Amino acid sequence: MPKAKPYTEAEVLNLARPCIQALKPYVPGRSIDDVRAQYNPLRIVKLGSNENPLGANPKVLKAMTKAMPRVSLYPDGSNREVRTALAKVYGLQTEQVMVGNGSDEVLLMIAQAFVKPGEHVVVSENTFSEYEFSGRVLDGEIIKIPLRNFRYDLPAFTKALALKPKLLFLCNPNNPTGNYFTHAELEALLRKAPRNCLVVVDEAYADYATAKDFPRCLELMKSYPNLIVSRTFSKLYGMAGLRLGYGFADPALIRETLRVKTPFNLNLLVQTAALTALKDLAFVRRSLTMNNKGKIQLMAGLKKLGLVALPTEANFICFKVPRPAVELCEDLMKRGMIIRPLKSFGLPDWCRVTIGTAEQNRFFLKELKSVL
Ligand SMILES: Cc1ncc(COP(=O)(O)O)c(C=O)c1O
Repeated sequence: MPKAKPYTEAEVLNLARPCIQALKPYVPGRSIDDVRAQYNPLRIVKLGSNENPLGANPKVLKAMTKAMPRVSLYPDGSNREVRTALAKVYGLQTEQVMVGNGSDEVLLMIAQAFVKPGEHVVVSENTFSEYEFSGRVLDGEIIKIPLRNFRYDLPAFTKALALKPKLLFLCNPNNPTGNYFTHAELEALLRKAPRNCLVVVDEAYADYATAKDFPRCLELMKSYPNLIVSRTFSKLYGMAGLRLGYGFADPALIRETLRVKTPFNLNLLVQTAALTALKDLAFVRRSLTMNNKGKIQLMAGLKKLGLVALPTEANFICFKVPRPAVELCEDLMKRGMIIRPLKSFGLPDWCRVTIGTAEQNRFFLKELKSVL
């Protein structure tokens, strides 16, 4: 048989959908293995990806070990038990809940179900990149709203409604700034958004929010059926590697979104993990208490170093540094401290540190002082 020529770049460009050429690959935080291979420091502390510093929940690990022998069987493709368990926790019907392989998948499924080519998708600047990604994959037209004083500018989102967008993606609290928009601000936008414009609020970090005026989205969903909320097990439940996100919406919107779901999007182990994690309130409480204490510790430490930090309602803090953040983070990594430079978020002078345990936070502040 003659040996076939590999595809040329021009050939694949011709084959592929044009809209995917504008997609930028996701920039993940640096991994422990990566830093070990490059710098081999004495110890490595990772506060770069907003994971739970308590690590995995031992009860979840035990439940998964017990479920292990069943992995030769397909999981429940409808994810019924997990959806029902979530519905119970939040006082909803199972039909109002969807689950995905990470909230990344939930966000993408929403776009897949609703965004037609050329329709407008409104996102913010300096925010989580997957909103733009989801819009672009579906050949949507992305409209970007700048932050105002480092906060989401909801009045500007409201103005953008004049363009008749199909979808708005909002992040609250915002990654990477950590700050939030209020219940009143969100409701003012919802009042203006027509029923044929879906407002997706990504609440990946809302579990950590303590502000009294933080939006009560479940309450708002009763008056505004175009409001969709997405959340995750990656942070508070310490399950980032297992991949489980969930969404709340009007039952008809959920039904339509689930049309694009792959047959078994949650594996058998993660389904077991979710059911156990939801019951272990002690782990949740420990995580929240640690976050609240760590926030105070880090805010005070950053202030002492003379750095500006934004107020946060999340499990991370965004702070400004006096030299390019990429360089500074590289110096920290040489010392085994992984945090996130925010160049890829369009904030080249800013860094984001996950709130860690008291000990991890001390290590971070000590190493930060050295590299400053
Ligand atoms: C704002 C925001 N939304 C969604 C996600 C995705 O989370 P998941 O792990 O559930 O896919 C992240 C991940 O860091 C995030 O920061």
